[in-house]
Amino acid sequence: MTNIQIIKQRYLKAKRIIIKRDKFKEEMEKQIDLPKMKILIIGASSYVGARIYSDLRNKFNVTGTYNKNKLFKELIKLDITNSKEVIEIIKKIKPEIIIHVAANPNARWCEQNQKLAKGINENGTKNIVEAANLINAKIIFISSDRVAAPINVYGKTKLASENYVKNTKKGFVILRPSLVMGLSPNTTNDRPFNRILKNITEKTPAIYDTSWKFQPTYLGHISETIELIIKNKINKEIIPISAPELKTRFDIAKDILSKFNIEVVSVDNKDKSPVVIGKQDKLKELGLPVYSYSEIIDKILKEIKK
Ligand SMILES: NC(=O)c1ccc[n+]([C@@H]2O[C@H](COP(=O)([O-])OP(=O)(O)OC[C@H]3O[C@@H](n4cnc5c(N)ncnc54)[C@H](OP(=O)(O)O)[C@@H]3O)[C@@H](O)[C@H]2O)c1
Repeated sequence: MTNIQIIKQRYLKAKRIIIKRDKFKEEMEKQIDLPKMKILIIGASSYVGARIYSDLRNKFNVTGTYNKNKLFKELIKLDITNSKEVIEIIKKIKPEIIIHVAANPNARWCEQNQKLAKGINENGTKNIVEAANLINAKIIFISSDRVAAPINVYGKTKLASENYVKNTKKGFVILRPSLVMGLSPNTTNDRPFNRILKNITEKTPAIYDTSWKFQPTYLGHISETIELIIKNKINKEIIPISAPELKTRFDIAKDILSKFNIEVVSVDNKDKSPVVIGKQDKLKELGLPVYSYSEIIDKILKEIKK
């Protein structure tokens, strides 16, 4: 080996050590910084938000808000339609990241109360974005796959909310779940999964629609994805988050309730809601986890039995 070759070899070895050391340092800094990162979850009492809150609160410095239902005793009161209150709370907490979950997700209620629905879903989001920009916070927004074909007030207000969220100066990530399934600390809100739970706990009649098809989203997948979005500093992305298979409410209820020996009756509600196909490509591209329908059902059954 010539002297030049030896020097070149030593140089490459030293370079490799430096790259390894820097990577290690970066990882260590990430580990040290994470528990200190301040996160504000707006809507921590909701079916979706309560699970995110309980999954993340031991991993970060998390504060949660409620509006009418103080699900956890430490939650602080915040009405997102009150811009003054939103600015006050956000300036006081000074979170680095705001996870915005609050909305009225009931499509029928939104249709019957268009002004109020706009006030909560749209203007509430605008208030949060404006306050986030005052303290340079990033927003992770729980949107909906309904924005892909917004045929009703709910879909339209969620789409308008996304457009506000895109104005967050520090950055944003928008998650677009479909119908969400999975156990939450909030078991009482009238949400689709809680109705299935009630069939088990209160023996309510299990009658489910066979007409509308959608790709279900697993609730735990949302928290897991948010944790990775924070850790991997993912920014300016819109991420559909659901299983690849199309299912009906009847399919899901049957796959869960049959394990509890509960008979599920089918009904054709002639639900013309658009079928939205959310590909898993974005999750895969960003190195985020994906779940198949059968994996989701397995996870949910374990959660319920536990
Ligand atoms: N569940 C699903 O299948 C599904 C699917 C796709 C997207 N999403 C999205 O996920 C989010 C949560 O939905 P969810 O199913 O968990 O609904 P949910 O249980 O009905 O929760 C709605 C939440 O919004 C809060 N809220 C309502 N008005 C408010 C106001 N003026 N100020 C502050 N907070 C207010 C409520 O607070 P209080 O209870 O304390 O009053 C509650 O925490 C929504 O953004 C929804 O669009 C849900």
